[in-house]
Amino acid sequence: MPLIPELNGKANVLVCGASRGIGLALCTALSSRDDVAQVWAVSRNASHDDGLVALAKQQGERIALMDCDACDEYALAALASEVGCSCHHLHLVISTLGILHQEGARAEKSLAQLDLASLQASFATNAFAPILLLKHLLPLLRKGPATFAALSARVGSISDNRSGGWYSYRASKAALNQLLHTASIELRRLNPAATVLALHPGTTDTVLSRPFQANVPAGKLFEPAFAAQCMLEQIERLGPSDSGGFWAWDGRPIQW
Ligand SMILES: NC(=O)c1ccc[n+]([C@@H]2O[C@H](COP(=O)([O-])OP(=O)(O)OC[C@H]3O[C@@H](n4cnc5c(N)ncnc54)[C@H](OP(=O)(O)O)[C@@H]3O)[C@@H](O)[C@H]2O)c1
Repeated sequence: MPLIPELNGKANVLVCGASRGIGLALCTALSSRDDVAQVWAVSRNASHDDGLVALAKQQGERIALMDCDACDEYALAALASEVGCSCHHLHLVISTLGILHQEGARAEKSLAQLDLASLQASFATNAFAPILLLKHLLPLLRKGPATFAALSARVGSISDNRSGGWYSYRASKAALNQLLHTASIELRRLNPAATVLALHPGTTDTVLSRPFQANVPAGKLFEPAFAAQCMLEQIERLGPSDSGGFWAWDGRPIQW
């Protein structure tokens, strides 16, 4: 099965949020596939990140490490022009950007814990950065099959919200979903072969989820490699007719 529907030939892929967790697992899986030509692995300090440097040593020129703070629009513009110098078309872009309790973001349990700084930090990384990444990479996504997949989270679903809490994270992922859905409508016009997806990877053992793993039932905490494999299975399966949707790791659609 091709990496994305209707793709003939090898894929150019960019992963933003590549230094650890699901992003690093995606870079590991993608850079070892025969149908992938090149992987651009992006994080704030990718060129000095131990995991990415080790992967680049193993995979050689197939993986390029790019330093970029995705919350900085000038840095995103520079990233797009640098990638554009060596590649005219990206077949797959995956945003794994996300914060829950880091860098000013808080996993609030109550309104009393909510503050402007947490809301702003969460929205900046979880919602604004992925859609601005899409904006800046759009010139590289306009010809033929191209998928932009962003890792969202089931807790961003309003209809699925029965337990409350995590105001900033939930709201920023709901905003991300709306931004992606809106972009899917524009992309349908610009490139009918393009697909925009919001994906839920399932609860996965990473820095992001670590403080909240105590109540995860046995067998429900995924390894990053498994979550990455599930994401790639959905990316292989879902094409332009599915664009704008919100899908879980097991292929089931999630209600907004
Ligand atoms: N883990 C879970 O259980 C779970 C569940 C549902 C959804 N998700 C979603 O899945 C995605 C991946 O989560 P994860 O658990 O793998 O997270 P993680 O281990 O914390 O990794 C997050 C990645 O994002 C990068 N990043 C953060 N801010 C950035 C910025 N401003 N510019 C560039 N890169 C930035 C980090 O790199 P640097 O800090 O090195 O720049 C890191 O590589 C997130 O969107 C998360 O919300 C995760």
